[in-house]
Amino acid sequence: MPKYVVTGGAGFIGSATVRELLQEADAEVVAIDNLLSGKRANLAEVLERISLVVADIRDYDTVLKHARGADVVFHLAAIPSVPRSISDPVPSHDVNVNGTFSVFRAAADAKARRVVYAASSSAYGDTEVLPKVETMRPLPKSPYAAQKLMGEYYAQVFQSCFGLETVSLRYFNVYGPRQDPNSPYSGVISVFMKSLLTGQAPTIFGDGQQTRDFTFVEDVANLNRVAGKEPSASGKLLNAGNGNRYTLNEIWDTLQRIAGVTLPARYAEPRAGDVKDSQADITAIRAALPYRPQFELEDGLRRTFEWYRAHAAER
Ligand code: UD1
Repeated sequence: MPKYVVTGGAGFIGSATVRELLQEADAEVVAIDNLLSGKRANLAEVLERISLVVADIRDYDTVLKHARGADVVFHLAAIPSVPRSISDPVPSHDVNVNGTFSVFRAAADAKARRVVYAASSSAYGDTEVLPKVETMRPLPKSPYAAQKLMGEYYAQVFQSCFGLETVSLRYFNVYGPRQDPNSPYSGVISVFMKSLLTGQAPTIFGDGQQTRDFTFVEDVANLNRVAGKEPSASGKLLNAGNGNRYTLNEIWDTLQRIAGVTLPARYAEPRAGDVKDSQADITAIRAALPYRPQFELEDGLRRTFEWYRAHAAER
């Protein structure tokens, strides 16, 4: 019976990953989450089939205890957001750097086989060339980007010094059902969904011509599972995007069309630390893993909108 531990398991990407792992009927899944931004409700349909441990990832002893006997630890817990890491850098450093170190150390000491680490496309910063390839020199523009990059380095070092298998996946702007739209630091697509449902115009920071490689959360969950299994993925750092890029203006236009509304966006000053363009080269991940993204942007946006509409009362 495979055992999986998911840090941040009650969060947006974590809960999707837990549901994906449960497709293996005999899997034992332990979700570790301090419920700071994660929610029990994200796991409602599966709570009886998993163990939810309410704990902080900086609590080494608790992570160690649950990582014992684990095949894979999916380390997805983090304080996300580029602007939050600028306005309030201490908590995001503490969780994203010290918490990440604690998880790698506990996984290695517990003799878990592998850690799949949620790295970030923000590590690239503003590159001269698109798409962004893993061989490019990282140029982090924000504390968040630097913190996530540090986690990649720790992944490499835990593999080379402590014999822990690691895979770092640089996620590119993940979106989909259950992303919380209610914080000033929420991901832009969740914010756009809330605008559609409340009829209040969104604010676009900058001219809206910045681009992102938006990746549907179910593709990411599937990728996590595959990355936990595939022997040849061990030690790799891989872009985990779709390989496309769209401007925010295009996204907002598409969403208005999907929802059948006309609601011109407001524009405000660009955000500090914001990357201008982001697009993944996915050659390496296609070669390394049997992974092919299944959700084109419009399909993913439609599914996301349907979900937010169906759950509007809870948000
Ligand atoms: C960054 C990372 C991403 C990571 C995420 C974690 C890059 C390219 N991507 O996302 O991999 O998962 O941090 O938080 O660095 N915006 C608006 N209006 C809003 C909210 C956002 O215009 O109400 C704009 C932002 O200024 C930005 C874009 O939308 O240009 C995307 O913002 P956001 O969803 O917060 O993600 P990134 O910061 O791009």
